Amino acid sequence: MDFSNRQSLFSVLLFVSIIFVQHFTAVNSIGVNYGTLGNNLPPPAQVAQFLKEKTTIDKIKLFDVNPDILRAFAGTGIFVAVTVPNGEIPNLVDVRYARRWVANNIKPFYPQTKINYILVGNEVLHWGPQNLVDNLVAAMRSLHSALIRSGISGVNVTTAHALSILESSDPPSLAKFRPGWDIGDLAPTLKFLRETRSPFMVNPYPYFGYSPEQANFALFKPNRGIRDRFTKRTYTNMFDQLIDAVYVSMKKLGYGDVDVAVGETGWASAGDSFEPKCTIPNAASYNGGLVKKYNQGIGTPLLPGRKFDIYIFSLFNENLKSGATSEKNFGLFRPDFTPVYDIGIMRGTAAVPNKPTPSAPTPSTPVSTPPIPGNKKWCVAKAEATDEQLQSNIDYVCSQGMDCGPIQPNGACFDPNTKRAHASYVMNSWYQSKGRNDFDCNFSGTGAIVNSDPSHGPCSFLT
Ligand SMILES: *[C@@H]1O[C@H](CO)[C@@H](O)[C@H](O)[C@H]1NC(C)=O
Ligand SMILES: *[C@@H]1O[C@H](CO)[C@@H](O)[C@H](O)[C@H]1NC(C)=O
Repeated sequence: MDFSNRQSLFSVLLFVSIIFVQHFTAVNSIGVNYGTLGNNLPPPAQVAQFLKEKTTIDKIKLFDVNPDILRAFAGTGIFVAVTVPNGEIPNLVDVRYARRWVANNIKPFYPQTKINYILVGNEVLHWGPQNLVDNLVAAMRSLHSALIRSGISGVNVTTAHALSILESSDPPSLAKFRPGWDIGDLAPTLKFLRETRSPFMVNPYPYFGYSPEQANFALFKPNRGIRDRFTKRTYTNMFDQLIDAVYVSMKKLGYGDVDVAVGETGWASAGDSFEPKCTIPNAASYNGGLVKKYNQGIGTPLLPGRKFDIYIFSLFNENLKSGATSEKNFGLFRPDFTPVYDIGIMRGTAAVPNKPTPSAPTPSTPVSTPPIPGNKKWCVAKAEATDEQLQSNIDYVCSQGMDCGPIQPNGACFDPNTKRAHASYVMNSWYQSKGRNDFDCNFSGTGAIVNSDPSHGPCSFLT
């Protein structure tokens, strides 16, 4: 192929890529929980505009059915998961009540607002009381039939569980649900989910399982991994271990075919003096590692290649949350829309969120140079870069004399064998060797600078 043909092929690919980017970011990104326990949070319309224009986030999850938020997200293309308040569970068992509830809370907004999940209560088994637990599955069934009778199909009815439903999770192969909840509550839930083809939703928090000795394992940082001697699978992070523990427990009840979804997971970026794990680098490493893992589509050791719906907790720091300082600092963003740290979810190279209205008080912080003194930086492929773009980055860097041995078969960075992982490795090598200028990580807008180490397992990224 001569040069001009290559050029025009490249233009076509670029054009096709742009279309794919626009298409796929709309259905294929990580979600966030939009909690509203703050007295300084921006109005929902600004939040909707911000998420749509400045980030790749295409799904939000609410802890209620706030009509202002549902209205604000109409026509944005962003999926919205809503939560029925726990107290409604006994009422919803009555099908007429469920139909009225749907008529009042869902019908007025659907389908202009892309409601994708109705979660019946939040962590009901964990928090109780028993009459809510006892009515949970009946309420889900009743709500599901009310939706169908109202002409609404394609909305998943499920409920999010705290991982206290597990008796143990380590090693995953020996995991099982707590006796009492297993047959009595979880099996009927799973039966309903199988019948309605909805996922089993859990809230795994390696944050709660953290210990300084296992810091790297909890934070998606390079580590030797932990082998499950029964399945002979090696785990390099706690998130995978928890998901596989849930999957094994479902399978032991006979429901290994039901999908898994992650309703909440996250890490606080600040805490009290007795919470040393709550730092910006730790939060950036955990949530950034999760986003990277999600984008690579590698699944878990027992569910390889499986893509889960995942909702990070949470969108904003929420100053009215009670408890320790950490509780108020789970947000990816401050109330003025400035990112607390970068996890590669901003659109565009500059990645500076313009404030949607002039009312937001403080200036934005550019996320490409996070204000963390002495912190290292790496270059990785952006979430929205296409395989074609990534391949052309690999071809370019490797043709310029960079060492691309690590991404060859048997190289330390061959696994995971994806264009995204390989491109990130070589793009970073280029960026580091050229002196870490921001423009050395541009790659026609497909590179992003991050402040968490993308190294994984034996694969060590240059610094
Ligand atoms: C409902 O859940 C199923 C199973 O996980 C999933 O394939 C489907 O996309 C979900 N529907 C929506 C609207 O999110
Ligand atoms: C990155 O590349 C894009 C496309 O080639 C260009 O428009 C943009 O100005 C570049 N940004 C920087 C910071 O060099």
